[in-house]
Amino acid sequence: MQITEHPVLDKKFNEEVIFYFNNQSLKAKKGQTVAAALMANSIRKLGASRKLNKARGVFCANGRCTSCFVTINGLEHVLSCTTLVEEGMRVSSNESDPDVRGESNGN
Ligand code: FES
Repeated sequence: MQITEHPVLDKKFNEEVIFYFNNQSLKAKKGQTVAAALMANSIRKLGASRKLNKARGVFCANGRCTSCFVTINGLEHVLSCTTLVEEGMRVSSNESDPDVRGESNGN
C-alpha cells in the first residue's frame, strides 16, 4: 500500500520508473527511496544477518541502523532507505555484513 494522492505530494511521485530487485522487474514512483519502492512491491526481506542468518529489512528508515543494506548497481552495502530509486537501477539483496576487519580496511 502506498499513498498516491496527498496535498504535500509533488506531481513527481506520479511518474513511474522500472528497476530490478534480484533480477525481477518492478515498478516504482520517481522520487521514492529504494526501500519504499521495495516495500510498495511487498518485498520486506532485503538481506540476511551474518551471524544468525536472519532476515534484515527496514528498521529506522532514516539512515541510522544499517539494517536496510542492499547492493545497488554493483556497489555493496548501500542504504536503501536513503537512496532514491532510478530508472533501470539494479538492486540485489545483501547477504553479509560489511567486512570492517578484513584486508580492505587495512587490518
Ligand atoms: S532502515 Fe535503518 S538505515 Fe535504513
